[in-house]
Amino acid sequence: MDSILVRGNGPLSGAIPIAGAKNTVLKLMCAALLTDEPLTLTNVPRLADIRTLSDVLVSLGCEIAELSGGRVLALNAGELTSCKADYDLVRKLRASFNVLGPLIGRTGQAIVSMPGGCAIGARAVDMHIDALERLGAKVELKDGYVHASAPQGLKGTEIPLRFASVGATENALTAAVLAKGTTVIKNAAREPDTKALADCLIAMGAQIEGAGTSEIVIQGVDALHGATQGVIPDRIELGTFMIAPMIAGGSIELLGGRLDLIPSFAEKMQEAGAIIEETPAGLKVTRGDGPITPVNVSTAPFPGFPTDLQAQFMAMMCFAEGTCTLEETIFENRFMHAPELLRMGAKVEVQGGTARVTGVSEMTGAPVMATDLRASVSLILAGLRSKGETTVNRVYHLDRGYERIEEKLSAVGADIERVKN
Ligand code: EPZ
Repeated sequence: MDSILVRGNGPLSGAIPIAGAKNTVLKLMCAALLTDEPLTLTNVPRLADIRTLSDVLVSLGCEIAELSGGRVLALNAGELTSCKADYDLVRKLRASFNVLGPLIGRTGQAIVSMPGGCAIGARAVDMHIDALERLGAKVELKDGYVHASAPQGLKGTEIPLRFASVGATENALTAAVLAKGTTVIKNAAREPDTKALADCLIAMGAQIEGAGTSEIVIQGVDALHGATQGVIPDRIELGTFMIAPMIAGGSIELLGGRLDLIPSFAEKMQEAGAIIEETPAGLKVTRGDGPITPVNVSTAPFPGFPTDLQAQFMAMMCFAEGTCTLEETIFENRFMHAPELLRMGAKVEVQGGTARVTGVSEMTGAPVMATDLRASVSLILAGLRSKGETTVNRVYHLDRGYERIEEKLSAVGADIERVKN
């Protein structure tokens, strides 16, 4: 199992290209199930999660060709051979639960393994199921699987979500595009990934209004056609790399970075002392002269502060001059990085959904354990300024969502390497 070694060293400089968004491309791949024509995706990131989801789609009969070294995916769900997404595949990747909407929308039948919980929380799917039932599907939970059927097809309706869930909005959206009549999703997720999914569906012939707002209106159509769609930049990878120069010093340019993808995060970064400039190629982030300022944060659905950047922000606050609080409101167990940061000399107290971070002048490298995707990258970021060597173990978590992170960081001057054990 690989690990990553980081040695604290001086300021960073240069540029990092931002890859396509993991949380967008996964949903666009599922959308391919909605048509019997080819869907081609470009600017695809090379990530373990993409390969895992490809296995799920192929098991349903989807053909997938990787082109241009994996940067382009050509998906063809012309001949679906199964409507069952198996536990052995779904348990490896929760996002594969989002084949449910497209399958029932297109074929009137779906048997999808319940995804189960994960390190960061229970991850219930009650809102996904409620949405399908409102669209007229008969849903049964049996042997750990969701059995959904609608032999006469789905029927447009109103779907009020009790929480702006990303996954539930997206499953409802993909189910409703081929339903008879009009569907209105209320309190919908407004994440850029959800908007990008709607844009792809529109390119495939769907009729959707209001994506990116909290009310999405879908006029069902008889069929969707093929399309070619580019994947938007990954705002979480972007935010992660924006934090690197704040911790290690210096200035880097994020090629393809866009401020509109991270509005509240960028504000909090500026409050902490970051100088953020838009450039022709993206965004430039420079560490200001003074110390890092402690900033209170509370995670929230978009356009609020992204929960997927909370761990990375904590790593930065470990070096701030003073104390702040970080409140996690989306997932009930998303401070697994805190005990590992303590091993490096950080001062973090966690109580329920709130972490109180008091900055220290120095941290020291240590062997630490990655517990989930975003927690693992926060340890790498902390290692960029810690004395000595930090060894991050179980980096398979990292490879799920970051493409060649050690190469991207060493290209801007970080002392980092992957060790094959
Ligand atoms: C998506 O997860 C992302 N994953 C997550 O990114 C991200 O953290 C999350 O949205 C929030 O932004 C992908 O897109 C693949 P939710 P999702 O449904 O769709 C509860 C990463 O690091 N809930 O918005 O699962 C749920 O338990 C990952 O890249 C219900 O209770 O998120 C959670 O507490 C991690 N019932 C909250 O809502 C439901 O039916 C938010 O979940 C659905 C959700």
